[in-house]
Amino acid sequence: MNVTIFSSEHELNEAAAQLIAGLVIAKPDAVLGLATGSTPIGIYRELRRAYERNIVSFRRVRTFNLDEYVGLGENHPQSYRHYMNEHLFRHVDVPPENIHIPDGTAADLAEECRRYDRLLDQAGPIDLQLLGIGHNGHIGFNEPNGELASRTHVTELNAQTRNANARFFQTMDEVPTHAITMGVGDILKAKTVVLVAKGADKADILCRALTGPITTDCPASLLQTHPHLIVLADAEAGRLLR
Ligand code: PGA
Repeated sequence: MNVTIFSSEHELNEAAAQLIAGLVIAKPDAVLGLATGSTPIGIYRELRRAYERNIVSFRRVRTFNLDEYVGLGENHPQSYRHYMNEHLFRHVDVPPENIHIPDGTAADLAEECRRYDRLLDQAGPIDLQLLGIGHNGHIGFNEPNGELASRTHVTELNAQTRNANARFFQTMDEVPTHAITMGVGDILKAKTVVLVAKGADKADILCRALTGPITTDCPASLLQTHPHLIVLADAEAGRLLR
């Protein structure tokens, strides 16, 4: 495990974007595993800048997003498809057919999960998986549980996750109750995992995930078993790791 703590969020964003852009420059058809949430927004901003400066092209990259809310389609402003379009995809040259995000509006969600896994198996393994961490230790939407699913599946969001995400919705009732998420096995299969944490509210869970017991009660703790885990934290999130 390689942990770097940055004194500013800007430096962290630049370092993460450099990791991703560096991979794509070295391997133009890289498979990227992408995340949503507040954490990667600044990283995507830096990637857009690198693209605008002709430092990197995403023309041959293939992308797989971790998760999507059940019931929210591309036009819903809180869908992860919408998020990715706004923060990255519509600003760079990645071809639409190379972009993969689970379809939370699929009529048959179980079949949608199987379809996603087939696509992952065909394209994979993922070269670099970008990850945030939930306050409860979730990765993707793999919530703390007695057992964790290996592959893409429909999951019920727990109260803590729904509360954390309520800030993006008008009312609590609008916060989706379910999501499709890649499984922990799908995530751990990536050649490199880049875990990013920002802010004082992530310090406890980041420390628990990286230095505590490996347990399904903290899905991110399973990352300790990954042979190539890179952790990028700002000073607040990394406070307890010093
Ligand atoms: P955040 O979410 O980036 O909005 O903090 C992280 C996560 O829940 O994985």
